[in-house]
Amino acid sequence: MSGTTWFSISVERARRRAGVKWSHYGDDVLAAWVADMDYDPPPAVTAALRGHLERGDLGYGLMAADLPDAYAAFQQRHHGWTPDPERVRVFTSALHGLEAAIWNTTEPGDGVVVFTPVYYPFLDAIRDSGRRLVDAPLDPDGWRIDADRLDAAIDPTTRIILFCNPHNPTGRVFDADEVNAVADVAERHDLLVITDEIWGELTHGPLHRPLATCDERFAGRLVTLGSASKSFNLAGLRCAVAHVDHSPLERTLDSMSGHLQGAPSTLGVVGTLTAWTACDDWLAAVRTELTARRDQLARRLAAEAPTVGFVAPEATYLGWLDFRTTGLGDDPARALLKQGGVALSQGPKFGTGGPGFARVNFATTEEILDHVIDRIVETVAAADTVT
Ligand SMILES: Cc1ncc(COP(=O)(O)O)c(C=O)c1O
Repeated sequence: MSGTTWFSISVERARRRAGVKWSHYGDDVLAAWVADMDYDPPPAVTAALRGHLERGDLGYGLMAADLPDAYAAFQQRHHGWTPDPERVRVFTSALHGLEAAIWNTTEPGDGVVVFTPVYYPFLDAIRDSGRRLVDAPLDPDGWRIDADRLDAAIDPTTRIILFCNPHNPTGRVFDADEVNAVADVAERHDLLVITDEIWGELTHGPLHRPLATCDERFAGRLVTLGSASKSFNLAGLRCAVAHVDHSPLERTLDSMSGHLQGAPSTLGVVGTLTAWTACDDWLAAVRTELTARRDQLARRLAAEAPTVGFVAPEATYLGWLDFRTTGLGDDPARALLKQGGVALSQGPKFGTGGPGFARVNFATTEEILDHVIDRIVETVAAADTVT
């Protein structure tokens, strides 16, 4: 089957799905918000899941024990990193692993650094656990990590740096200088680094380098989160891993009841194992498709909505759109939904650097993306005429 066939889907089919992306706003709205792709998952994954359903094979399974080796082999093949399978723990989602690390290594009031604007559940995780947000805003000119600002943000009760690479929502792949600055600060202030790398396979050129391979100063202070949910479009299956290179957290997790830590379902494990072992061709094809959609978005916005700022992301299928010189105000996604019938993610939720921005999800077909762009262009044009 060709990549083109893998990635064609009609808007009618997308709307028939129960998933939140297309069901939340109803039939008049085009969905370009939550980070699911519109494409069907890899056929090998669907076949493996179907096999379990047809055999009625939904009892207790032992396959989760295979995840650490599969993750290690996948990371080695794609990124040249061999995680130690003994250090790999299984969780139901990346955020589950992230919250387990925060709750088990810090006390209420302790500081957690984030590089804003950032995937807003990070901000919720810090606030909801009673920890303290330590804001290290990215430099809006290129969304780079500002080493001085990072260093200045750290105080005596800062304990964690929450890293996201590739970065949601900006699509940055942080370079060696930026990563070294993080390693330097982490070592000097004795901080744990939690690095969320679940977008690592979806780059558009720059190579993703797992933090574990970047700088030896991360050794002993690093938790790496991995998942097949973004790269293979399996978020609803609920399965993720964390490579825990941090002795205190390892000891705490060892001492906790397995039931308290939870476990993914049989289908989550089967889908993830299949994705990591049998879907490299699909992954290569989806990357090509996503790069084409990214370039379509860049081309059309530059030609038809030049007041909308868009720096093509180096990774992810998310566009971080700058509407600050349009008439759409601080929360452009709200205006685009109300006036344009197109759902993007609201920039202000992503923290500092978010007002005036909206995040668009371009993981769809050329045709659906054209309709999404039409609605953005028309809404911006109408607002610019009024102001
Ligand atoms: C950076 C990042 N981390 C975590 C998640 C959520 O992953 P999960 O559903 O496995 O918790 C997302 C979803 O978009 C994400 O972009």
